[in-house]
Amino acid sequence: MNINVRAAKESDAAAFLDLWDALDSETEFMLYEPDERQASLETQQSNLANAESSDNVQIFVLEDVDTDLLAGFCAGRRSSNLRDKHSLHMVAGIRQAYTGKTWGYTLLKELESWARENDVSRLELSVMVNNTKAIALYEKLGYKFEGTKINAVKLKSGFVDEHIMAKLI
Ligand SMILES: CC(C)(COP(=O)(O)OP(=O)(O)OC[C@H]1O[C@@H](n2cnc3c(N)ncnc32)[C@H](O)[C@@H]1OP(=O)(O)O)[C@@H](O)C(=O)NCCC(=O)NCCS
Repeated sequence: MNINVRAAKESDAAAFLDLWDALDSETEFMLYEPDERQASLETQQSNLANAESSDNVQIFVLEDVDTDLLAGFCAGRRSSNLRDKHSLHMVAGIRQAYTGKTWGYTLLKELESWARENDVSRLELSVMVNNTKAIALYEKLGYKFEGTKINAVKLKSGFVDEHIMAKLI
């Protein structure tokens, strides 16, 4: 596997739509049902262009150089308000075939480095309580449990609670 970790760019839009399709059908741990996401290529291009020019959104991708697929992503977003600009909310998703190979760890470390260089002092995320693999990774990276949101997510199989986890850097 020849994987490149880099910042996302506008020209990733089509590959990103393909990644969303894969993630939404492969895992219930992301927030969209399969086919629920309606982003067009133009919307995706504009979202990525906005992210490229903003210092409040940062997206890193795993690019499989041999197949041109995006294998995964990690994104952080923060407010532009002075009072909570220090706090970055992050989300990550990796295609099933690429999980368990330390890419999640690598992506999150990359986002953390960016955060340290951009005056972020708090990283936070929410994770379904049954997502043991993700929770193990976050704990290894130093994230702590802050609380649990009851019935935060509604899957076809029923409600699921979500933990809030955060790391001060
Ligand atoms: C959750 C997810 C992002 C994790 O990414 P991943 O690439 O599968 O995870 P990694 O291979 O980096 O980590 C796997 C293990 O190695 C550990 N690890 C990896 N690199 C490491 C390193 N350099 N040092 C120490 N530990 C490391 C991780 O903590 C984890 O530990 P475990 O064996 O106890 O599970 C990925 O599985 C995924 O996208 N899943 C589907 C969607 C999802 O759940 N997204 C998160 C929503 S909150």
